[in-house]
Amino acid sequence: MKNAVVTGAARGIGYAAAEKLLAAGHRVVLVDLSDRVEESARVLSRDHARAVQADIRDQAQVKALMQRVADEFGTVDIVVNVAGTAHRDSFEETTLEHWYADVDTNMTGTFLMCQAAVFPYMKRQGSGRIVNIASVSGKVGGIGPVYDDGSGGRTGIAYAASKAGVINMTRWIAKEVGKWGITCNAVLPGPILTDMTKGHAYDLSALPVKRWGTPQDVAEAVEFLSRDSSSFITGTCLHVDGGLVMA
Ligand SMILES: NC(=O)c1ccc[n+]([C@@H]2O[C@H](COP(=O)([O-])OP(=O)(O)OC[C@H]3O[C@@H](n4cnc5c(N)ncnc54)[C@H](O)[C@@H]3O)[C@@H](O)[C@H]2O)c1
Repeated sequence: MKNAVVTGAARGIGYAAAEKLLAAGHRVVLVDLSDRVEESARVLSRDHARAVQADIRDQAQVKALMQRVADEFGTVDIVVNVAGTAHRDSFEETTLEHWYADVDTNMTGTFLMCQAAVFPYMKRQGSGRIVNIASVSGKVGGIGPVYDDGSGGRTGIAYAASKAGVINMTRWIAKEVGKWGITCNAVLPGPILTDMTKGHAYDLSALPVKRWGTPQDVAEAVEFLSRDSSSFITGTCLHVDGGLVMA
């Protein structure tokens, strides 16, 4: 049994990742800004799931979270960074407030979680698995249609830029931590039906696999990259996108 920390786990992809890691036999600490995380952990498992309400943008809270996991369970083995926000404003209408909202959560929050997990815990253990949920938006400059009137819901510039940051941060970290037995990989979902995407237009007919992805589709990739046996895979981008982006 490994100790896993999953952020954004109150709902959606984070919840599915927590569920999958529990099913794989791990202990899982579900982390979220929302107090709904308590109920999510209760529903999943009374024995092996814990809930922590925390803001990943806050370095003190992130460090306290890792310390708590290490104190209570001994090791920090798997960290899955799922928490994220997505604004969909046009280029012209992107405010600084929305820019910082996506960059602070998606990029800075993920950086803080990775740093606090590696130093000192994973480095000292000589092992660890980090899985960062980026997005194909971070590779292709946003996904979703944009109609002539500007509507359509393509993921916004701040979101796409922040997810590109997560992809390159993942590679950078992978180069640094491999010598300590730690891998760091990114999972890049395409359109996955969750609260984040509900009500927004996506051209599913353009996908080779013509359906919405599910949070469970993403959780499969997360669990695969979290295995001990995935030790030679690092710095990679695993697309879970129905074939939307093939590069
Ligand atoms: N749904 C998709 O189609 C899709 C596609 C590509 C990438 N993603 C990425 O997957 C991740 C999860 O997406 P989802 O669709 O499940 O979204 P969601 O909105 O359903 O869940 C996101 C969760 O993150 C939490 N969160 C937000 N800010 C936080 C913070 N500062 N600290 C702690 N928790 C915080 C929220 O409370 C929420 O529970 C996000 O990073 C998203 O960008 C989603």
